[in-house]
Amino acid sequence: MPLIPGLTGKADVLICGASQGIGLALCTALLAREDVSRVWAVSRHTSTAGALLALARAYGERLLLMDCDARDEVSLTALASEVGLACTHLHLVISTLGILHQEGSKAEKPLAQLDLSGLQASFATNAFAPILLLKHLLPLLRKQPATFAALSARVGSISDNRLGGWYSYRASKAALNQLLHTASIELKRLNPAATVLALHPGTTDTALSRPFQGNVPEGKLFEPAFAAQCVIELLERLGPAESGSFWGWDGERIGW
Ligand SMILES: NC(=O)c1ccc[n+]([C@@H]2O[C@H](COP(=O)([O-])OP(=O)(O)OC[C@H]3O[C@@H](n4cnc5c(N)ncnc54)[C@H](OP(=O)(O)O)[C@@H]3O)[C@@H](O)[C@H]2O)c1
Repeated sequence: MPLIPGLTGKADVLICGASQGIGLALCTALLAREDVSRVWAVSRHTSTAGALLALARAYGERLLLMDCDARDEVSLTALASEVGLACTHLHLVISTLGILHQEGSKAEKPLAQLDLSGLQASFATNAFAPILLLKHLLPLLRKQPATFAALSARVGSISDNRLGGWYSYRASKAALNQLLHTASIELKRLNPAATVLALHPGTTDTALSRPFQGNVPEGKLFEPAFAAQCVIELLERLGPAESGSFWGWDGERIGW
């Protein structure tokens, strides 16, 4: 099955958030595929990401490491022009950008724990950075076919929210979903073969989830490699007809 619907040749792929966790597992899984030509692996400090450097040694020129802070449009402009020098068309872009309790963001419980700086930090990485990444890479996604997928989270679903808490993470993922849905409408006009997806990878054993794994039911905490495989299966299956929608790792659609 092709990596994205309708793809006939080999894919050029960019993963933003590639130094660890699910992004790193996606790089590993994609490089192992013969239908993937090159992978651009983006994070803020790739030169200190040991696992990425090991992948670069194993895969040589097929893996290109790029430093970029996706919250910074100057950095995104530089990323887009550098990638654009090497290729005219990316077939797949995946944003695995996300924070829950790091870098000023907080996994708040009561309202009393909410503050402006925590909200701003969560929104900057979880909602604003992925959509700005899409804005800057858009010229490389205009030929057919192309998929832009961002890892969202089921807790960003308003209709699914029965537990409360995690105000800024939930709200920033809900905002991300709205931004992606809006972009899917614009992309439909620019390139009818484009697909924009919000994907929930399942609760996965990474730095992001580590402080909160105590309450995860047995068998429901995934290895990053498993989450990456589930994401790839969604990318293989979901095409332009499903653009602008929100899907879980299990292949089920998630309500907004
Ligand atoms: N883990 C879970 O249980 C779970 C569940 C549901 C949804 N998700 C979502 O899945 C995605 C991946 O999560 P994860 O658990 O794999 O997270 P993670 O292990 O913390 O990895 C996040 C990645 O994003 C990069 N990053 C963060 N801020 C960045 C920035 N401003 N610019 C460029 N790169 C940046 C980090 O690299 P550097 O620090 O090197 O820049 C890192 O490679 C997130 O969107 C998360 O919300 C995760």
